[in-house]
Amino acid sequence: MTERVIPLADHRYLASLPAIPAILAAPTGVLLDRLQRPLHDLRISVTDRCNFRCSYCMPKEIFDKQYGFLPQSSLLSFEEIARLAALFVAHGVRKIRLTGGEPLLRRDLERLVALLAELRTAFGDPLDLTLTTNGSILAKKAESLKRAGLGRITVSLDALDDRIFRRMNDADFPVAEVLAGIDAAERAGLGPIKVNMVVKRGTNDQEIVPMARHFRGRNVALRFIEYMDVGETNGWRMDDVLPSAEVIARLGEAFALEPVPVTTVGETAERWRYAEAGVAGEIGTISSVTKAFCHDCNRARLSTEGKLFLCLFASRGHDLRGLLRGGASDAEIAAAIGLVWQGRDDRYSELRGQGVAAGTGERRVEMHYIGG
Ligand code: GTP
Ligand code: 5AD
Ligand code: SF4
Ligand code: SF4
Repeated sequence: MTERVIPLADHRYLASLPAIPAILAAPTGVLLDRLQRPLHDLRISVTDRCNFRCSYCMPKEIFDKQYGFLPQSSLLSFEEIARLAALFVAHGVRKIRLTGGEPLLRRDLERLVALLAELRTAFGDPLDLTLTTNGSILAKKAESLKRAGLGRITVSLDALDDRIFRRMNDADFPVAEVLAGIDAAERAGLGPIKVNMVVKRGTNDQEIVPMARHFRGRNVALRFIEYMDVGETNGWRMDDVLPSAEVIARLGEAFALEPVPVTTVGETAERWRYAEAGVAGEIGTISSVTKAFCHDCNRARLSTEGKLFLCLFASRGHDLRGLLRGGASDAEIAAAIGLVWQGRDDRYSELRGQGVAAGTGERRVEMHYIGG
């Protein structure tokens, strides 16, 4: 049952080939980890590339022309992704999020969306199929994604002010094109749309109220994300984090907000609505630094080259591509996934919040590789 550690041809993060149990228990639709957390949410990274260079994710000095992105042969094909996704769904996954890097850079992504849109849960329901994008080519893609079967979309947007936005994406990309992408997604019916803003103190915190003002009255959930110490390249410092409590205090000076009760277990965001009757729009805060939400984390992550990661802060993956390309059957891969999840006890943010050194000392995965 012990996992064998294998060196990777492309020298990415450590990974081991998951053990296939001797008795292949069929998936039951409910899979619990060691902390009794069910598997509900699968986040699939489809490329490690991006046309932006946000300093908190892919700082330009490191992700330059010399940087070795994954070669095409390392990537899972769409058929391989869909085959794995079906096994995760059999284990209880109900939500699939496509991420990157920038997922819309993967050629013909609509074909993958169409394959995933065909999947059904054990109860015969379609999945909650969604995608996180930087919005740069969304205006062009919104219609075709919707036609392919995408349910909804989340757009990352860190500022409304063009100068601040261009500086944050570090690719001199204009904000107007992302706003046009959001509008196109709304017109295409890819709602409810979520807009995610990573807040860095002293960099874009002056944009909090203008962003809320811009989206207030629209059917958009605007979520403020605490800047996290994910990966190893962004030079994270606690001083750069603006706690969500402060975000809400600043918004409270401009608008009357009231809390929205929690509806779904395992949600990342705490939510607020505008107190004034009839005003559409929602505010969310995602506080992984000041208020970790590991206790009901139900998210698995599949990297671009088919490694399963059990936490955003993990150092080691479980090499599902190795099983796929080694000729394992669906029953064997499903059983191996079951065993990996049952052994999961990751809760990095919670431990770090308690002052416990949670890492293993090994290099942690980067956000552009594993997806937000
Ligand atoms: P919805 O179903 O649309 O509400 O999605 P979500 O909130 O599950 O996911 P989304 O990708 O929009 O997450 C927003 C941000 O929250 C990410 O970019 C991360 O910064 C953070 N985040 C999401 N999942 C996790 C997680 O499991 N752990 C930590 N620490 N942060 C997370
Ligand atoms: N802290 C918080 N969120 C991050 N993201 C990337 N890096 C970080 C970080 N260091 C998230 C952003 C972006 C998504 C792709 O990943 O929300 O929208
Ligand atoms: Fe690209 Fe998103 Fe990372 Fe920015 S945060 S560099 S848009 S993957
Ligand atoms: Fe889940 Fe890890 Fe994030 Fe905690 S830190 S919520 S365990 S992904």
